[in-house]
Amino acid sequence: MKAKKLIEVALPIKEISAESVRDKSIRHGHISTLHLWWARRPLPVCRAIVFASLVPDPLDENCPEAFKYAVEMLLNTGLGKLHYKPYKDIPYTSIVDEMEDNHRNRLMMFIGKFSETCQANMIAGKSTPPKDQLDDWSLIKWENKNNPKILRIARELIFVAYQSDKRPNATWEELHAEFDKLYDAIPKAEKNLYELKDRHIKTDIVKQREAELQAVIDAFQNEMPSVFDPFAGGGAIPLEAARLGCRSYGNDINPVAHIIERGSAEFPQKYGKPIVYSKEEFEQLYGEEGLKMAQEDESGITFDGKCYHIPNRLAFDVEYYAKRVLAETEKEIGNLYQSTTEKTPLVYYWVRTAKCSNPSCRADIPMLKQFYISKRRTARPKDWYYLSPIIEKNNIDFEIKRGNCSEDGWNNRGNLTCPCCGNITNITEIKKQFCSAPIKERLVAIIEDGNERTYRTPNQRDIDLVEKLKRVDTIPSEKLEVGNVRNFNTPGWGIDSFDGLFSKRQSIFLAKFKEKIEEICSEIHLDVQYVSVIKTYLALWFDKVLCRNTSFGVWHKLQETVEHPFGRQAIPMVFDYPEMNPFSNLSGACIGQLNSVVAFIENENSFPSVFNNIMSGDRSQFEKKTITAVITDPPYYDAIAYADLADFFYVWLKAIINKEYELVFSTPKTPKQDECTALKHHHGNSDDEAKKHFETMLTAIFDAIELQTSDIVSIMFAHQSTEAWTTLCNSILDARMNITGSWPMDTEVSIALKAQMSTLESSVTVACRPSERKGFADFDEVKHDIRQLVKAEVEKLYGLGFRGADLLTACFGQAVSVFGHYKLVETAEGDPVSVGQLLEFARESAAQALLEGVPGEPQTKFYCGWLQMNGMTECDFDDVNKYTRVGVNVEIRQLQSDRLLITDGSKQHLATAEEHVGANRNWGTLPTDYLISQVHRMMLAYLGGDDTLILKLVRELCPQSDSPQWRLLDFLQGHLPEGNDLKAVKGLLASAEMYRQKCKETAVPTEGALDF
Ligand SMILES: C[S@@+](CC[C@H](N)C(=O)[O-])C[C@H]1O[C@@H](n2cnc3c(N)ncnc32)[C@H](O)[C@@H]1O
Repeated sequence: MKAKKLIEVALPIKEISAESVRDKSIRHGHISTLHLWWARRPLPVCRAIVFASLVPDPLDENCPEAFKYAVEMLLNTGLGKLHYKPYKDIPYTSIVDEMEDNHRNRLMMFIGKFSETCQANMIAGKSTPPKDQLDDWSLIKWENKNNPKILRIARELIFVAYQSDKRPNATWEELHAEFDKLYDAIPKAEKNLYELKDRHIKTDIVKQREAELQAVIDAFQNEMPSVFDPFAGGGAIPLEAARLGCRSYGNDINPVAHIIERGSAEFPQKYGKPIVYSKEEFEQLYGEEGLKMAQEDESGITFDGKCYHIPNRLAFDVEYYAKRVLAETEKEIGNLYQSTTEKTPLVYYWVRTAKCSNPSCRADIPMLKQFYISKRRTARPKDWYYLSPIIEKNNIDFEIKRGNCSEDGWNNRGNLTCPCCGNITNITEIKKQFCSAPIKERLVAIIEDGNERTYRTPNQRDIDLVEKLKRVDTIPSEKLEVGNVRNFNTPGWGIDSFDGLFSKRQSIFLAKFKEKIEEICSEIHLDVQYVSVIKTYLALWFDKVLCRNTSFGVWHKLQETVEHPFGRQAIPMVFDYPEMNPFSNLSGACIGQLNSVVAFIENENSFPSVFNNIMSGDRSQFEKKTITAVITDPPYYDAIAYADLADFFYVWLKAIINKEYELVFSTPKTPKQDECTALKHHHGNSDDEAKKHFETMLTAIFDAIELQTSDIVSIMFAHQSTEAWTTLCNSILDARMNITGSWPMDTEVSIALKAQMSTLESSVTVACRPSERKGFADFDEVKHDIRQLVKAEVEKLYGLGFRGADLLTACFGQAVSVFGHYKLVETAEGDPVSVGQLLEFARESAAQALLEGVPGEPQTKFYCGWLQMNGMTECDFDDVNKYTRVGVNVEIRQLQSDRLLITDGSKQHLATAEEHVGANRNWGTLPTDYLISQVHRMMLAYLGGDDTLILKLVRELCPQSDSPQWRLLDFLQGHLPEGNDLKAVKGLLASAEMYRQKCKETAVPTEGALDF
């Protein structure tokens, strides 16, 4: 029997969460800055999941001796001894509990460990800057993505795990020596190749050394496990698998994703390598411009008197040819953005206008929702800028003023109030206007660069500059996916094709930009394949500019940047937009975007992955059991319409790099029907058909995976609805697999304070294996097992800071793991139990388990149980079952007289804080009062802004982070509906550490009742 993988028994989820949250804000050199893709997984989660899916649990009795030895030697000797020592006091728990120093825990610390500073801060209740949270020796830390020492350890551990699985008798010494030999051959062969002068010319020696390098890479990687992601998207998982030295494969049905994947995880790793040019060759290839680039300090290029040494050939070429494209484009159409003052225009601010429906007015009203142009976060309100209207009869003009603007905009959800006559033109009428004639728009402001940014209204020359322009009608004009009303509402306003998303000047710029990319690339006389790679990056760069150069872009007033329209994974109708000067130094403009493309190429340097632009689920894609692990992140039911959204880029990429990727761009638009999503507009507008499609497809894909995978399948899933989980679990079970491990991880929260970790969004990773289903089971017995497991899980996760819906969802994996042991689970009546029923039961068990942890006397428990079941809504009060489910024994009359339950005729509802303790100012102030009353008193004090009272209560009732009041507040946070009570709970929790800290600082020990 094989040992369990680490992911089936342990994972440092708090550490992974912390670095994943940080990952969202990393820009320079990050994969997300190469090209937009929806629902990217953070790199730390991907790296951790790949690693933990490939190494065994060292404490498993079947763990190969060689692997245990490897952990001992690599993580418990030399520097590793100190760096990967488990915590003395597990940081995020409230009691002092030491982590045993064993091999499993050393592996956990290797994946991710909180730094000493962060540990100390957590204990002191202080926050730590995100970049300092993890120890510098953690595998998943951003800074370590190219760290040779740490990657070597990770790769060797994976190598030993994989080899000792195949050859159980191999010793650590043998494997260690083999690893060194295979691994160290690569840098030697690289050096041999990269030190050759002018290796771009394919002489025999160049070809020979290229072949030698490829051979040693293959020799090493053939001895490493293989990892496959059938839903590769932006390529984060394959990128991380390759980083860890694995043979890495990815599929995606979407052509845009495919191009991004290759740009992320194949080309930089293949071509982003050093090159040495003789002086003559360099000058001939790059001329004056190249020399200028080579002389720039930050280029990293050195000249030794005879040769130029370029650290990254691909990054240099992309930058060089992109700059030529830009210069040529600017030469031809730069005058369209010419300055009409001494300053350079950065952004032209446009507003769409509609006619006032009042026949005696007919003013052209700019559809402004508000008037600010700049509300810089870093500026004081007196330094904000806004458009101040000047109204004369039915003529509307603006001047720009500095300071606070008190006026409301005229456009309220598409209904327009005329500032001239006060008439309201409703949305239907405006849509009619927009659909029946070209939409009018008006330039209202220009933001310019100089010593400091300035804001002005346009002059006549600015207006003339665009007025006489003609729209280019050769830009892609395919139809938007009009059936997708959720993501595209512009068709309702008359814009239903892609060319409608650009203004006249934008269309001219894009057409010229595209033309110049084609022209310049056709003049590059290098290896054809390499030229196509350069062109691919120029096309990706084009896309980055494209999505900020649309009349559906967004002006971010707080940071003064031009943003793409996809903030909410849609292209919504907008009425004002920024038109950027693409030749300016604005971060969204061409040079700013080029810098991030180049920075990405410069920062990725491991092994290439192999990508296929195909629909997953083909059982013959890989031989049986030849893939070691599948690690993937399937589409989340109907959450994102990948194909519909990607068309925005597809139609342009097809126009630019069709020749280089004929098969990829063979369809008029991205393939929709075979996408594994549940979007009804792709399935005859039928919800049922859409669901059926998703479920069938996911099962078929998992079925193929089960056939092809020898070890483990790890699936990340971020959807919280029971329905989506039912589908996922059904597909896993139908593909003859079962869940063997389940881990929630945050991606959006701050771990600033140890007791204060509220989850805003988490995803759950489940590890699955092929399973043997044995016999039938009785639901009542299965229920017992599930209850036990779920209870243990709830306790564990609660301790780790998971709350509310996240916590309940996180228990699904455990429940399914019990269920999946049997061929069939039946009720006492002999009816088969469905996965849906099972998950409902799991959710209920988790809620019950949570309630068991709710502190306090029966009245408080009643309050929480009732809240869980009925919320704050009114209910009929005769359902005795509800009480038995809550499991508390309380007198209903008592509850009514305690004002915990408010009766209104035959209806009852749970009391709000105000209803419960508002009538008597002493209720909830004594330690002997009901816990819920004490917490309600704190909530009322918060809502009344009475900090003194809160501090007194905290000092007297709940000075410790594990005082029951905080746990109750946590519970309420997960269950209260929106409203004042929830606001108070959130506010108290957000400042909990501060209150406790203040109490400690000013502690005046008192006992008994408080004096109010
Ligand atoms: C949740 S995303 C993956 C995101 C990825 N992990 C990342 O970090 O960027 C799911 C991906 O599955 C792809 N997809 C949907 N249906 C597919 C199918 N039938 N075959 C292959 N890929 C598919 C989508 O195009 C999308 O890119």
